[in-house]
Amino acid sequence: MQVPFLNPAAQTAALREELLRAVTEVLDQGHFVLGPRVAALEQEIADQVGARFGIGVNSGSDALTLALRALDIGPGDEVITTPFTYIAPAESVHQVGAKLVFADIDPRTFTLDPAEVARRITPRTRALLPVHLFGQAAALGPLRALAARHSLRIVEDCAQSIGAQWEGRGLGSIGDIGCFSFYPTKNLGADGDGGMCVTSDEALAKKLRMLRVHGIERRYFHDLHGYNSRLDEIQAAILRVKLPHLARWNARRGEIAARYAAGLAGLPVELPPVSPGNAHVWHVFALLSDRRDELQAQLAAQGVPTLIYYPQPLHLQRCYEGLGWKPGDYPVAESVARRILPLPLYPELTDAQTDHVVGAVRSFFRS
Ligand SMILES: Cc1ncc(COP(=O)(O)O)c(C=O)c1O
Repeated sequence: MQVPFLNPAAQTAALREELLRAVTEVLDQGHFVLGPRVAALEQEIADQVGARFGIGVNSGSDALTLALRALDIGPGDEVITTPFTYIAPAESVHQVGAKLVFADIDPRTFTLDPAEVARRITPRTRALLPVHLFGQAAALGPLRALAARHSLRIVEDCAQSIGAQWEGRGLGSIGDIGCFSFYPTKNLGADGDGGMCVTSDEALAKKLRMLRVHGIERRYFHDLHGYNSRLDEIQAAILRVKLPHLARWNARRGEIAARYAAGLAGLPVELPPVSPGNAHVWHVFALLSDRRDELQAQLAAQGVPTLIYYPQPLHLQRCYEGLGWKPGDYPVAESVARRILPLPLYPELTDAQTDHVVGAVRSFFRS
């Protein structure tokens, strides 16, 4: 049996007629950028998250950069984020000219360790940028307490966690601004790039709306240094077809994760926990093994190709050479990067495929 690691085409196939109808309508109407579908999607996502305003932008990466800009974070400021994630949050700090500060992660949840964050706070720290990695919240309780104590802003990176909750509240509604990605492989994926900021602060929402179109409120009058970061109508139309299915898809992800957890129990691997108070949406199910590379090779031989995220923590990336980081600076992130192995997980994965993956992992540890 072959088990593709990702399979976005399966989702498209299931919704093919509806998607084609929605895209054709946009083509026929001829309004392609920031039109009525973007406005409707912004409200729908804000409602789903539990925030007042949604601001569609052209990627999750831009959502983060615009969020920091909207909070007036720039040169002279420090922002603390995680070295174990996709690079976008770190890039956004760099792009606004602030100082990028990493804090190490918790070895079980792979999200920011609040004790490590506390150690990195200085008088220049302006914001925390936690990533709700793999589908569940970072340690928001202690992080919010730190933010309150030191008057810090919180920008939530929710790229991998749309629909997830912490203590009954939607991720993205808890900090000052929540940032989402609609990259095709995300839990809610467009058929191209897309992203969104959500906030309940009206002034921030207004500023974000200006920043995404060259700093204008009135056409050809530029009050801020802005960006071209608009969400287009075709992607919004596609996302509006998919959004009603998100809860069901996330529930199916949960079933697959539970099947993996039951099937792999008792093996000499560490399985991903759900932190108390979290409703997890299982963007990724990743185990830890000291024999990761051998296990990955054996899975591939049994029709289960996998992709490691993330093989290199951010502080050791070449693009940050010269900033002074070295191996050993963030030992937990480095150790997780060496041992982590994500398994295939998407709503269209069948029980038989899930069981095949479980069988392949089990057979590795029998051999
Ligand atoms: C944690 C995280 N943050 C930000 C992003 C950036 O989103 P985008 O690819 O839409 O720019 C991604 C993924 O792509 C991500 O996984």
